[in-house]
Amino acid sequence: MIDTRSLLDSFRRFYDREARLFRAPGRVNLIGEHTDYNEGFVLPMAIDRATFVAGAARDDRRVRVHSVNFDESAEFNLDVEGRGRRGLWLDYVEGVARELEKRGARLRGADLMISSDVPLGAGLSSSAALEVSTGFALLSLSDVAINPKELALAAQAAEHNYVGAQVGIMDQFTAVMGKRGHALLIDCRSLETTQIPIGASEVVVAICDTRVKHELASSEYNTRRRECERGVEILREWLPQVRALRDVSVEDFERYENHLPEPVRRRCRHIVTEDARTLLAAEALRDGRTEEMGRLMFLSHKSLRDDYEVSCAELDTMVEIASGVKGVMGARMTGGGFGGCTVNLVLRASLDEFQKEIESGYKRATKLDPFIYIAEASDGAKEVS
Ligand code: GLA
Repeated sequence: MIDTRSLLDSFRRFYDREARLFRAPGRVNLIGEHTDYNEGFVLPMAIDRATFVAGAARDDRRVRVHSVNFDESAEFNLDVEGRGRRGLWLDYVEGVARELEKRGARLRGADLMISSDVPLGAGLSSSAALEVSTGFALLSLSDVAINPKELALAAQAAEHNYVGAQVGIMDQFTAVMGKRGHALLIDCRSLETTQIPIGASEVVVAICDTRVKHELASSEYNTRRRECERGVEILREWLPQVRALRDVSVEDFERYENHLPEPVRRRCRHIVTEDARTLLAAEALRDGRTEEMGRLMFLSHKSLRDDYEVSCAELDTMVEIASGVKGVMGARMTGGGFGGCTVNLVLRASLDEFQKEIESGYKRATKLDPFIYIAEASDGAKEVS
């Protein structure tokens, strides 16, 4: 947990002035993986781990930033053209500021201090939390009001143009729109969102970190994206109304899949079936049918492992162990893949046993110490008083 009082104290010592405080959360995706950039459906929730930004406006257009996590300071000037990607944490901060300005927000300079307890590279969207928290802070400190969806889009564009990952909208949108006690069913084409209550029931959402960082992620990610686009191109010969894989039903896919070369066929099969699973899962969650929800999560993992090929041995091991524990309704990898975390739906009464089994079983199999954490659904970006 971030000690917000000590963050504000550090800010005062560092900049010799008072600050306001803002936060944006990481997220865990319950189901609907790699569907967002195919204009499909996702079912994430914002979590109670977040990036906090202490900040105060300046009279000029300099943005000075100190990262507590990296113990590094940097700055840029909004009136001087950016140098583009540096390969540093500052890219996320500067990227979102410049993208907001491109969208017409006139920002003031600011002094910022950033501290986060979203683990890095663990598939819980530490980068979206950083982009959205700083974007939200800069807008608030500049007294600029924009549509929250625009903030999510600016943060996504920062990732595309400054970080170099062609990500979908799920992470940034969830960091902005998260709702305490709820998961969000997001239609990634229209951005229409349905809030689904979660957490008051007998199940909890447990996140297990494999402690394997997802380093391969961005190049493989961009490759998957191209494979999906290739699938759309080919399928359009038979289904000209299709704009994205979101428009392909499971039945249509089965009718035309033999026209697709491998691995494009399997990539498309994952997306088409995952969209269908996500819609079913949202209904199951809403109706409290957690067994059905869990079944869909296991199927999702299998599809990500075999068809989309974005899992890894450690994620598979973690899911395998979870599937053997009584009281685990569902388990799957979450986020981009190639490492990071699994998400598990566990009966509250079985939580102790779950933790014990994961800790001992995972360590035995991999020699790695897992990290387990119970996630509460939290609110999106806001000012903290
Ligand atoms: C990353 C991206 C998201 C999404 C997931 C996979 O987290 O940032 O846009 O594509 O991978 O579902």
